[in-house]
Amino acid sequence: MSAPTDLDVNAALRERYGAAAPQLSDPALLGSEMLATMLRHRSVRRFTGRPVGPETITALVAAAQSAATSSNNQVWSVVEVRDDAARQRLVAQAGASAFVAEAPVVLLFVADWARASAIAGGRGEADEAAEYLESTLVGFVDAALAAQNAVVAAESLGLGTCYLGSLRNDPAAAATLAGLPARAVVAFGVALGWPHPDETAGVKPRLAPDVVHSLETYRPVSPRDIEAYESTLAAYNATQGRPSGWIRQIVARVRDIRGLHGRERMREWLTDRGLPSR
Ligand SMILES: Cc1cc2nc3c(=O)[nH]c(=O)nc-3n(C[C@H](O)[C@H](O)[C@H](O)COP(=O)(O)O)c2cc1C
Repeated sequence: MSAPTDLDVNAALRERYGAAAPQLSDPALLGSEMLATMLRHRSVRRFTGRPVGPETITALVAAAQSAATSSNNQVWSVVEVRDDAARQRLVAQAGASAFVAEAPVVLLFVADWARASAIAGGRGEADEAAEYLESTLVGFVDAALAAQNAVVAAESLGLGTCYLGSLRNDPAAAATLAGLPARAVVAFGVALGWPHPDETAGVKPRLAPDVVHSLETYRPVSPRDIEAYESTLAAYNATQGRPSGWIRQIVARVRDIRGLHGRERMREWLTDRGLPSR
């Protein structure tokens, strides 16, 4: 990848925020290739047939393992799925989005207390603390931090990625397909491959920075902020052939349990996986 110019970071900010974009002047910020890579993130759902080599995955796993992990507990794992039939089963049986069948690699990120439990069990010790909500949260947080490091590393190499929360539509099926033991659950997947030239998804605008960022104390959202974002996102969505903005989507997500698409049973499902989260 060529070194970014000053224009790259500020242009990327404009793409990310539209009219609300901050503009930077500090050369250290403008010269950061890492920052430019992160600002240019977009989810990719169409891939070429070009393979992703095993050494690349080695590097991505090392990047994932280099993320911070709560108390160095390392309560996450990743299962690499390459086999065509296995990826098709993720779609047909575990609720993964259809494009997963065409992705060269899918990484399944696992919130994993099975390893700690096995180590304790091997020493004749119990693993009761794995059953508490705090432990479930730590497993999911660890898995997410690891995955995001892998995603940023992948994008820095020109690869495209897309998270797959859809695998939580049926955690039992995802666990069976990944061969997980008790006390482990697929948190989400990440589809990975070389972006297809026909992939049209661009940099999706986000809420203006000061909607999510406040100084010292929390600032509640204002209607003006949200209306501004509604127009910015609607304009982007129109370029993607989608007429909608954001307000309808976020209201539908929060209004009632229909927004959870069946995942309101998550505690029950986690209990079945040996993570009752009490
Ligand atoms: C935890 C998580 C789960 C996601 N699950 C899916 C999914 O199942 N299918 C999908 O197409 N995109 C999925 N996405 C991608 C989001 O839809 C996407 O990140 C969001 O719309 C913002 O777009 P961008 O990533 O292109 O900026 C997921 C993202 C995250 C962080």
